[in-house]
Amino acid sequence: MSPLGPRFPELRLRRLRRLPALRELVRETELSPSDFILPLFVRPGQGIRREIPSMPGQFQLSPDTLAETAARAWELGIRAVILFGIPPHKDETGSSALDEAGIIPQAIRALKRQLPDLIVITDECFCEYTSHGHCGVLSQHTGRLDVDNDRTLELLGQQCVVHARAGADIVAPSGMMDGMVAAIRRALDAAGFSHIPILSYAAKYASAFYGPFREAAESPPQFGDRSTYQMDPANANEALREIALDLAEGADLIMVKPALAYLDIIQRAKQQFRVPLAAYNVSGEYAMIKAAAARGWLDERRVVLEILTCIKRAGADLILTYHALDAALWLKTWSI
Ligand code: PBG
Repeated sequence: MSPLGPRFPELRLRRLRRLPALRELVRETELSPSDFILPLFVRPGQGIRREIPSMPGQFQLSPDTLAETAARAWELGIRAVILFGIPPHKDETGSSALDEAGIIPQAIRALKRQLPDLIVITDECFCEYTSHGHCGVLSQHTGRLDVDNDRTLELLGQQCVVHARAGADIVAPSGMMDGMVAAIRRALDAAGFSHIPILSYAAKYASAFYGPFREAAESPPQFGDRSTYQMDPANANEALREIALDLAEGADLIMVKPALAYLDIIQRAKQQFRVPLAAYNVSGEYAMIKAAAARGWLDERRVVLEILTCIKRAGADLILTYHALDAALWLKTWSI
C-alpha cells in the first residue's frame, strides 16, 4: 500500500528510480555531442595557444592550432564551431571585419581545408573590430553618441557576405540591431548565398555574464555599456517580440543568451515558436564553474553535465558552450 493510503496504490514513483538501467530507460532528456557548438577565439599568427585567464581551459588560437582543436572536437562528435576573431588592428568603423583576407576568412579556410564537413558558424558583429568596442558604427544622430542602427546594418550585410565567400556555413548576427536579419538575408541573397542560413542572436540580454568573453575577445566597450541595443534582463515578453520579428525577417535558427539565468526564456521561446533554438552557455557561466571546481567546491563533471542537460530540458536544441570538448568526452564515458 502507498504511504499515502489505500486510495493511492500507484503513487510509488521510486519504483522507476530503483536501478541505474531503469533510470536510463525512463530518462526524458538525452545529451549528445551533436547538441554542442564549440566557441573558438582566433587571432593572426602561427602556433599560438594563449590561455584566457578568466576562462581556464580556453585559448586564443591561430588558424593552425584552431584547426587542431576543431579536429579534436569533430572526433568527439561535435559538428559545429562558432568563430570569434581578434584582428591585428581596430578602428572607428571596424573596417578589418570586411577584409576578405582578415582573420575570420583565414580561419574559415584553415578549417575547411582540414575538416570540409565541419559546420563553421561565424559571429557577425563589430565589437571585436572597433576601437571603441561597440557592436557597430557610432553616430550622434539621436542626440548622444550611440551605435547607428541603419549604418551598421549595411556593414553587417557586407561582413556576412565576406564570411560566406570564405566558406562559412551559417552566419550568426549578435549585435542586436533592429532589422539585422532582413538586411543580412537581402545581402546574402544578392551575392548568391541564398542557401546560407541565419542563426540570429534574437534574445540577447545586456548581461554581466559576458565579462570573461570580453577579455578573451579583447572587446569591452571603451565607454558606456550595451544597454541601448542588448535587452534588459528584467524583460521576458520583449524577448518573444524580438524572436517573432527575427523569424518574420527570415531567421532560420534563433538563440537565447545567456542560458542559465534565462531558462524561462528558453522554455517560452521553444513553446511559442517551435523552431530550432540555440542557447548560449556564456563565458561568465563557464568561469563560475571553473573557479568553484578549481577549489574543489563543485564536482565539475557532474555539474557541467547537469547544467547542459537542464538547458536542453528547458527547450534548447543546440547549446553553445565552452564545456563542449570536456562534456563530449565525459558523455563517451558516462557511467550508469
Ligand atoms: C558580441 C558577443 C558577445 C558574446 C558573444 N558575441 C559579447 C558581448 O555582447 O559583449 C558573449 C559570449 C560569452 O560571454 O561567452 N559580439
